[in-house]
Amino acid sequence: MNKPVDLPIASFNDEDSNTTRNPTFDSVLQARLSRRGLLRGGLGGTASLMFGTLGTLSLAACGGSDDDVPSTRVERLGFTPVAKAVADVLSVPAGYTATVIYALGDPLTATTPAFLNDGTDVDYDNRAGDHHDGMEYFGLSADGTRRDPAGTERGLLGMNHEALTDHFLHPAGSSARPRPAAESDKEIPAHGVSVVEVRKSAGVFASVRDSAYNRRVTPLTPLELSGVARGNGLMVTKYATTGVAARGTINNCGTGYTPWGTLLTGEENWAGYFTRSATDNTARGGTTARSVISLNRYGRAQGAASRHGWETSGVADKYARWNLNQTAGSTNAADDYRNELNTFGYMVEIDPYDKTQAIKKRTSLGRFAHESGAFGKPVEGKPLAVYMGDDSRGEYIYKWVSTATWSAADASAANRMAVGDKYLDTGKLYVAKFASDGTGQWIELALSNALIDAYTAYDFADAADVAVNARLAADAVGATKMDRPEWCATQPISGEIYFTLTNNSNRKLEPSGSGQQALDAANPRSYADSFGGGAAGSPGNVNGHILRLAENAGEPAAVGFRWDVYLFGAEAGADAGKINLSSLTGDQDFSSPDGLWFSPTTGVGWIQTDDGSYTDVTNCMMLAAVPGTVGDGARKTLAYTKLDGSALSVDTFVGKAPTPDTLKRFLVGPADCEITGCTETPDGKALFVNIQHPGEAISAANIANPAAYLSHWPGNAGYGAGGASARPRSATVVITKNDGGLIGS
Ligand code: FEO
Ligand code: CA
Ligand code: CA
Ligand code: CA
Repeated sequence: MNKPVDLPIASFNDEDSNTTRNPTFDSVLQARLSRRGLLRGGLGGTASLMFGTLGTLSLAACGGSDDDVPSTRVERLGFTPVAKAVADVLSVPAGYTATVIYALGDPLTATTPAFLNDGTDVDYDNRAGDHHDGMEYFGLSADGTRRDPAGTERGLLGMNHEALTDHFLHPAGSSARPRPAAESDKEIPAHGVSVVEVRKSAGVFASVRDSAYNRRVTPLTPLELSGVARGNGLMVTKYATTGVAARGTINNCGTGYTPWGTLLTGEENWAGYFTRSATDNTARGGTTARSVISLNRYGRAQGAASRHGWETSGVADKYARWNLNQTAGSTNAADDYRNELNTFGYMVEIDPYDKTQAIKKRTSLGRFAHESGAFGKPVEGKPLAVYMGDDSRGEYIYKWVSTATWSAADASAANRMAVGDKYLDTGKLYVAKFASDGTGQWIELALSNALIDAYTAYDFADAADVAVNARLAADAVGATKMDRPEWCATQPISGEIYFTLTNNSNRKLEPSGSGQQALDAANPRSYADSFGGGAAGSPGNVNGHILRLAENAGEPAAVGFRWDVYLFGAEAGADAGKINLSSLTGDQDFSSPDGLWFSPTTGVGWIQTDDGSYTDVTNCMMLAAVPGTVGDGARKTLAYTKLDGSALSVDTFVGKAPTPDTLKRFLVGPADCEITGCTETPDGKALFVNIQHPGEAISAANIANPAAYLSHWPGNAGYGAGGASARPRSATVVITKNDGGLIGS
């Protein structure tokens, strides 16, 4: 989620919880190491080594060629770029077709009524949820009876429903608090995850309404806690008095595709759904109580209001659990939901093929505002690495390294969740610290680190406490505060890891206040921008950037890496010396990168935006990219002038500028939407993309006035009820090339 400040929903984002004062790069900017040394032994050799470790899908695609380049790889983008636009339409390049296949409210069973899209629809347990987000494709055999990772004719889409445009779910918009139970009972299950079958018929994909695979996972679905925090006292709630279970998942944002064929879904802005009374600190023992320190760090200071007010709908547990208050006089966490927040904020693993398997929250991977989870390329006999970002201003980048070493036989294991237990419950969690010389370190978050064991701001009790309070542990070791880490993705040829850093209004030349961050080499820009011809706003990283890293020697367990900035988002006309550092042209310029995915078949990178800064000129978009490798560009010194007139220079490393063949705009979405979630059939010929919250800026008062809607998509494109005056709906589209070719070619 990324909402401009003028939208009513803005206050519900939890993007400002990091008030610690970690060291920044300013203190080490004097370092001036040669890039030449860093690049020695670089990518010419490692690319070859790594490609030989690709999974079965890509090996099949490459045909085992000796030059390590798959025959399906797209090295030059062949389409005509899509122009920036603010129209309420979805645009793709000439020669491509986008088809809506799964929108908010679409039935998932044969007996669920068609979606009327007038606010009277109910039973979201059996319908598509709202705010489609991260998404993965899981292939099925042609007869639909079993998993086939190479299946291109039918498959399952596992996708997140991150949040709500709540007014559109009700006939006359959302009611004031106390919220009617009937409204909460629609809103709660409109969150979570969908598994929906998609099948090709006469060359065109559609969702399958009566598939036995279809299911919804919601904030009320029983889940297991797995990993280091399972059974820990921090996880004890009235719902699960032994701390081994949790009720549901919420604000699921990015995804991950495990090498064994399950879905990872990241719980992102979960904290905002909960409330605390203005006196809860006292009930918990005052401001020095460990639970209070933790709640503050995770964005739930006492007095915090809940996003939707579901706790006001009644005394039943399904409503009461959104209130985090500690019962006065009670010391027993099994009495109430004081610990409920500790049961959210995880990577959740779901087997999309098997409804009988328990869904598990993988607590060892840490608790934070999870975006996506990207696996490094699996290498037989080596640990698995999973890369993750924490999307809030000034938060961190993390890596999980499994204790178990990869066995390729696990890729086709029958019990997929048991494979998850093997690789995702036991291992080490690291946080990234970027240095100004283009290197970086992974710092383990463990009590064995004296900085954590002796941290004065929070007294960690045990290993579970470190995982549950990963943000505090990362503070303790002085990790690098980033410009809102969104998705990460692994480039399938080089094995390098890319991270979108969407934007950061708190990145300042001269920080004042604990919530602001100073410039550093990995987050080097702070500048002002105007919107709609108005005055320039407050400086910050307005347009975001995409950072990438290469592990030392390509090792998943490396504790050191090299990095550079692949692309800096910018308006094409912006100052090339300070802002448009990647020399983006009008066919390439973008703002606020968020979704990020690489096709394992074609190698094309897909960059999606969730923007509020360039939307005076263009709706959010998706670009196709064929990037180079870490270190293919140059060091760049950015010159700033402080308020007192003194100079400050910040060095960074900018990747090689893209060409018209290596970066171009592929899609522009309808009005007031975000583009997010991207996956593809294994033949590289059908690309699935989610359009989130078109026309979300709407008040309850304007629900009866379609002329006030900012978007009518996809009704105005002929999908579903409502036509040209339809309420807008989040939706999945499938994009194909009219000549049947590879997407992006
Ligand atoms: Fe849900 Fe960080 O985007
Ligand atoms: Ca975002
Ligand atoms: Ca602007
Ligand atoms: Ca996102």
